Amino acid sequence: MGFKICGTGSSVPETVVTNNDLTAFLDTSDEWIKTRTGICERRVMKSETLLDLAEKASLEAMRSAGLMSSDIDMIIISSLQGDFISPSMCCLLSAKLGINCTHMFDINMGCSGFIFALDMADSYLTAKKATAVLIVCAEGMSRMTDWTDRKTCILFGDAAGAVICVPGDGCIDLSLNIKGSYEHLYVGRSPNNSPFEQTEEYPPFLHMNGQEIYKFAVEAITNDIQRLLDKNAMTPNDIAYFFIHQANMRIIDSARQKLGQPEDKFPHNLEFYGNTSSASIPLLLDEINRAGLLEKDDRILLSAFGSGLTTSACILNWSF
Ligand code: ACO
Repeated sequence: MGFKICGTGSSVPETVVTNNDLTAFLDTSDEWIKTRTGICERRVMKSETLLDLAEKASLEAMRSAGLMSSDIDMIIISSLQGDFISPSMCCLLSAKLGINCTHMFDINMGCSGFIFALDMADSYLTAKKATAVLIVCAEGMSRMTDWTDRKTCILFGDAAGAVICVPGDGCIDLSLNIKGSYEHLYVGRSPNNSPFEQTEEYPPFLHMNGQEIYKFAVEAITNDIQRLLDKNAMTPNDIAYFFIHQANMRIIDSARQKLGQPEDKFPHNLEFYGNTSSASIPLLLDEINRAGLLEKDDRILLSAFGSGLTTSACILNWSF
């Protein structure tokens, strides 16, 4: 594969909502949420827009890569939904950042969006259609959760995470899987006023069968990781850090135990941000990178799962 990550950035809204804050309007408790998920608090947009978060994360990533807007010639945004349905976020972000390029698009691949975006960046860089790709995963989960549903709204938060990809040998392998189903996890859409449509309406909120997704996630993560390691003649011991989609600490722990790995190889920050969909892995990657914990040539493994249903995994050779 023909890319490497050369810069990371992230941004979260200022407003912190703790588990105790939720008890003001929900029949829940800090203890239940912490024990079942590991989440203590999350960030929610109040005065920020998703574009604001995306812009800040992008500027940080460009600074970390030592690049300017004029160096970027492609943008990929991963988001379940931007500030507008149209125009797409990439159009608005390119104008905000003064990035003048034609290769840009938004993708909607749920929580797997970051690794799907890495795959697309790789294709454009390998085909020499781009030389520096800005990937931004920007998610406004607080806008699509049903705040009266204690089974789902306690899980999510808003954030943006960004990376810059340039040509290089920083990716050892990558795998993507799509099941194509919505029964257990979907976000419906706002009602329209078409006098013609007769199809079933789905509420414009995130709907999830938690137990089914839990089972799917544990199996998918361990299978994806093991398959990718086997394919590349590696074992879990060859990996310095596993960056798993930050959905639930029990899911991460269960995968870790199946792989027989120590806790310190599975960084996490879901206690502070909850599940931020596709932003979760780049947000964590930026945190760990900024903390100086990644050494050049460390092998790191990313693994995500989410609506679609999709799963994705990627082994990177950290190279900056
Ligand atoms: N506070 C208090 N009680 C609650 C709450 C709450 N917030 N939510 C549910 N309960 C109750 C239920 O009503 C139920 O009570 P009952 O037994 O009297 O009916 C009991 O707690 C157990 O409910 P379960 O749904 O069985 O709880 P579970 O242990 O499965 O945990 C959870 C639920 C946390 C959602 C878990 O299933 C999970 O994490 N699933 C995976 C979710 C996930 O990973 N999503 C990521 C993909 S989506 C995306 O990333 C966009």
